[in-house]
Amino acid sequence: MSARKRTAILISGRGSNMGSLIEAARAPDYPAEIVLVISNRPAAPGLERAQTQGVETLVIDHTEYASREAFDAAIEQALVADGIELVCQAGFMRIQSAGFAQRWLGRQLNIHPSLLPSFKGLHPQQQALDAGVRISGCTVHFVTPELDAGPILAQAAVPVLEGDTAATLETRILAVEHQLYPHALRLVASGAARLDGPRVVVDGPVNQAAPLLSPAP
Ligand code: GRF
Repeated sequence: MSARKRTAILISGRGSNMGSLIEAARAPDYPAEIVLVISNRPAAPGLERAQTQGVETLVIDHTEYASREAFDAAIEQALVADGIELVCQAGFMRIQSAGFAQRWLGRQLNIHPSLLPSFKGLHPQQQALDAGVRISGCTVHFVTPELDAGPILAQAAVPVLEGDTAATLETRILAVEHQLYPHALRLVASGAARLDGPRVVVDGPVNQAAPLLSPAP
């Protein structure tokens, strides 16, 4: 196997997706190693979690920078200094400058708790409930300058149930996020998934599982 890709995770909060990526990357045959976690919020609970999992952490507090560009430059500097090859946003609540997103195009992923392109931006679970969809889920995509609009790499579906609240739907989607993100990073780090213009080309097995019908027949 070629060298494992040096990967950084950007967080702002809880870091449960970060945790699942760190766990997955412990497997000796995993093609990425998580070497750095950066938080823009000093109080992010994910920082302690990363430390417990043995990963180096760094706080780059956006409130200490005069502009978005200056904040992004500090992140860039930290990534380059650590020889980072891939970046995963995991609950990272900052919009990046176009220059940063462009520089990392094809090397930066994000996970969003909806089936994009539906329900971009904030409160996607509530947006899904308001729209009355019967199936929602999560999406891992390459990051581009436009929010939640980059080429789609992987998706997972969950049913929306009668009586769901944003909180119950969030919990159901989050459990699937923890499976999807490690899978998606593996595809990119191994070279099985590549950016090809506005689309992602993925080599490998196709999922022929039975379709998810919601409500159940
Ligand atoms: C996840 O739902 C993720 O999809 C979204 O923000 C949430 C972060 O949760 N971008 P966590 O910090 O990974 O627990």
